[in-house]
Amino acid sequence: PVTLKEAFKDDFYVGAALNGRQVNNMDAQGVALIEKEFNTISPENLLKWESVHPQPDAYNFEPADNYVALGEKNDMFVVGHALVWHNQTPKWVFEDEQGNPVSREVLLKRMEDHIKTVAGRYKGKIDSWDVVNEALNDDGTLRQSKWMQIIGEDYLQKAFEFARQADPEMELYYNDYNLWKPEKRAGAVRLVRSLQEKGIKVDGIGMQGHYGIKSPALEEVEASIKAFSDLGVKVSFTEVDIDVLPNPSGRAGADIDATFDFDEKFNVYTTGLPDSVQQQLAQRYADLFALFRKHSDKIDRVTFWGVTDNDSWLNNWPIRGRTSYPMLFDRQYQPKPAYNAVLETA
Ligand code: XIL
Repeated sequence: PVTLKEAFKDDFYVGAALNGRQVNNMDAQGVALIEKEFNTISPENLLKWESVHPQPDAYNFEPADNYVALGEKNDMFVVGHALVWHNQTPKWVFEDEQGNPVSREVLLKRMEDHIKTVAGRYKGKIDSWDVVNEALNDDGTLRQSKWMQIIGEDYLQKAFEFARQADPEMELYYNDYNLWKPEKRAGAVRLVRSLQEKGIKVDGIGMQGHYGIKSPALEEVEASIKAFSDLGVKVSFTEVDIDVLPNPSGRAGADIDATFDFDEKFNVYTTGLPDSVQQQLAQRYADLFALFRKHSDKIDRVTFWGVTDNDSWLNNWPIRGRTSYPMLFDRQYQPKPAYNAVLETA
């Protein structure tokens, strides 16, 4: 096989998140690569509340329309992300004109209008929506977001109901990070089961997949694939990237190659990525994709959070402005050793 989508066509969709430049025709090389390699796309930012619905009565649909058109033109599986989240949601959503918190009823109505307007517009065109993003804490309890504080626990149920009403045919996902952690895995199982007990059909659980070279252990990822699949839902890896740099929050990076210039304080190579680290990244991607293939009966989609290293949000997170190397393609749009390593697992 010569492309990712061909290599895994009997296993799962393979995709990438698109950024604003790609959607607005400012990155022809990036778009060409996306059209060649992938059969599903996700919107990195342009369908988040602050982008698509910045003011109470103002929707900004143009980037999203272009995004959906690109997917349709290429016959791709088109994903929506994300209807209800605590981040990248404007303050006005939760406040009245005096800046006081709105009532449960008002917030529920705003949520309903938003979901029905945005998901409704792309009815039959967006195939799968992340309905709620990141509702859980790492210990498996529900995050005390504004949604939770103002509406209460049933905001999740309501979000799924409104989304189902907006488009009865589309897939509805619960999406989160660190779902490999045992306590968070258990929390996600409880959450989805409780929705199912209320008669809500959850179609899938999205494991974001922002990983490091050494963490998480693949056994933990595998345990979550199985636990979620046992709920009768699809499992997708929705935002895959593998950071080779150490993360100040404790996530281990690759072994530092001391023969290269590494800035300890900024946690970044100042002279490019050493070969030894390229190889560790390639091996890690190969191990991960071997696991995905092993469970291809349970996994529906694997989406990278960007295309080239230049696109990645990890250039700005958790430390702003550093040079990161988490993707399969380098800054010149060329496949890295990790790309070939992934293809070879097919
Ligand atoms: C990130 C984007 O990649 C950045 O461009 C943006 O500044 C912040 O959000 N979890 C998610 C994604 O669900 O929406 C986030 O995307 C990354 C973490």
